[in-house]
Amino acid sequence: MDILVTGVAGFIGFHAAKRLLANGHTVIGVDSLNDYYSLELKQARLAHLKSEPDFKFHHLDISEKRALKSALGESKVTHILHLAAQAGVRYSLENPHSYIQSNVMGHLNILEFARHSGNVQHLAYASSSSVYGEREARTGFKESDPVREPASLYAATKLSGEMLSESYARLYGIPQTGLRFFTVYGPWGRPDMAYWIFTQKILEGEPITLYAPDLMRRDFTYVDDIVDVLPKILTKAPMGHAIYNLGNSAPNTLYDLVNSVETACGQKAETIIKPQQAGDVRSTFADISAAKRDFGFAPKTKLEDGIAQFVDWYREWKRENP
Ligand SMILES: NC(=O)c1ccc[n+]([C@@H]2O[C@H](COP(=O)([O-])OP(=O)(O)OC[C@H]3O[C@@H](n4cnc5c(N)ncnc54)[C@H](O)[C@@H]3O)[C@@H](O)[C@H]2O)c1
Repeated sequence: MDILVTGVAGFIGFHAAKRLLANGHTVIGVDSLNDYYSLELKQARLAHLKSEPDFKFHHLDISEKRALKSALGESKVTHILHLAAQAGVRYSLENPHSYIQSNVMGHLNILEFARHSGNVQHLAYASSSSVYGEREARTGFKESDPVREPASLYAATKLSGEMLSESYARLYGIPQTGLRFFTVYGPWGRPDMAYWIFTQKILEGEPITLYAPDLMRRDFTYVDDIVDVLPKILTKAPMGHAIYNLGNSAPNTLYDLVNSVETACGQKAETIIKPQQAGDVRSTFADISAAKRDFGFAPKTKLEDGIAQFVDWYREWKRENP
């Protein structure tokens, strides 16, 4: 398969592209290499991918209407894994326009590319657990639950992406799969996320800030568990438009995360407690029975094991990039 991976220099895009290349596919990667976080990290991920003969890269912004067409006009993309987005809940309060630009305009441009290319058999794209908004999580969130109350602009743009996809599946028969990821973490991860910030601060002997830690629970999902299932999802196009939760289905508290990072770092954290931040939801919890039924999705990594893997990688990254 010739697979277009958008956001290929990003955390999940990098891991997904590596796996697809290892499985013998051709990967055409695109990324705008924006400076939301360390460009050095994005370039280092790309350098790994560029050592693979079946990897091609185009530096472009998917929100620019003609960029994809002029870069990929001659290519024979059969499948798309669309991961490029302005990520992060908190930053959407600071820079809302970049979310509309990348996550709504960019999503539309990917749909238009799929519509006009004539070769695309399946478009799988990243949505987010944030579409579920603020709600009790005594049991897992189901894909069929109503999702009409996004708690952040980030969530609103991810929900918009799902709506745009639904309309294009109906209008033009493009088979699509929306993937609601739940707090994905692991080596080569994101410097804006709590597990990275806690690791950095604890190793540097600085205090960490916990926002409403008694209320917060997250369904932390190890990146390899996601990457194991992505090729299966891509090769199985649905009739129309399908949506799946991809989470660990075993939520942990914020204190569990801190404990795991402390253990992996071999150091205790000094903590500062603050109230819940605007845009944050208290709990996430994925019901993954649909992904299990259709793709055998079975995440197996416990938080403490995944965090130990991340901290090992982080120490090496910092040794090489002080
Ligand atoms: N990591 C998580 O916990 C998580 C959870 C839910 C959903 N998601 C979604 O999964 C996808 C991947 O997330 P990630 O954690 O790898 O984030 P990331 O920020 O590491 O990767 C996104 C990549 O997209 C690129 N990008 C952004 N705007 C672009 C544009 N307009 N044109 C081209 N490239 C652009 C960025 O440069 C970046 O390399 C995103 O859609 C994100 O919203 C991630």
